[in-house]
Amino acid sequence: MNDKSKPKTFSRRNFLKGIGSGVVGSYMVVPGLSNISKKIIEETENEGNGKERLALKVNGKKVSVLVEPRTTLIEVLRDRLKLTGTKLVCNQGECGGCTVLLDGKAVYSCHLLALDAAGKEVTTIEGLLTGEKLHPIQEAFVEHDGLQCGFCTPGQIMAAQALLLKNSKPTREEVLDGMSGNICRCAAYPNIIKSVIAAAENINS
Ligand code: FES
Ligand code: FES
Repeated sequence: MNDKSKPKTFSRRNFLKGIGSGVVGSYMVVPGLSNISKKIIEETENEGNGKERLALKVNGKKVSVLVEPRTTLIEVLRDRLKLTGTKLVCNQGECGGCTVLLDGKAVYSCHLLALDAAGKEVTTIEGLLTGEKLHPIQEAFVEHDGLQCGFCTPGQIMAAQALLLKNSKPTREEVLDGMSGNICRCAAYPNIIKSVIAAAENINS
């Protein structure tokens, strides 16, 4: 039997691996993301009309945009920079779905005014990739099925990254504590915890 005539077999695991790779990694291929990786984003119109200039770094690139004082960080990331990997879920600072790193610490980007990020470094899920290569935490989430619908996953992965940046060898209890600000409506918690522990082991091996 040649390869073409072999019946294709599909397993839940293979299916989830395919879905998972997309959820944890494909945010990098939307146009805005490749743009931000190639150039400094700078709006040249003048300040005024209630807008103020916000200069910060996002995923290692300098960004300069005009924002209203009420604009939240997630609005800048998603609406202005087209970094749509960060998800807006509750929009009330309760679920962690919008988690990004601000100077290496996890913050809820729906709950932070963009101007409060002035001069700081923001890392989003897109910033974890090296080219098209997944970060070890992203790989671990795929490998250990750390997601179901995947909507909370970018926030979970960024919370995990914040945890591992400050504690590269967390105990299970420390992982539970470090991930406690991120809710998963699908209750994928056992595999999320497994993924974070596996990622830490891989990073340290
Ligand atoms: S969307 Fe920001 S905490 Fe829920
Ligand atoms: S995987 Fe569905 S909300 Fe977490």
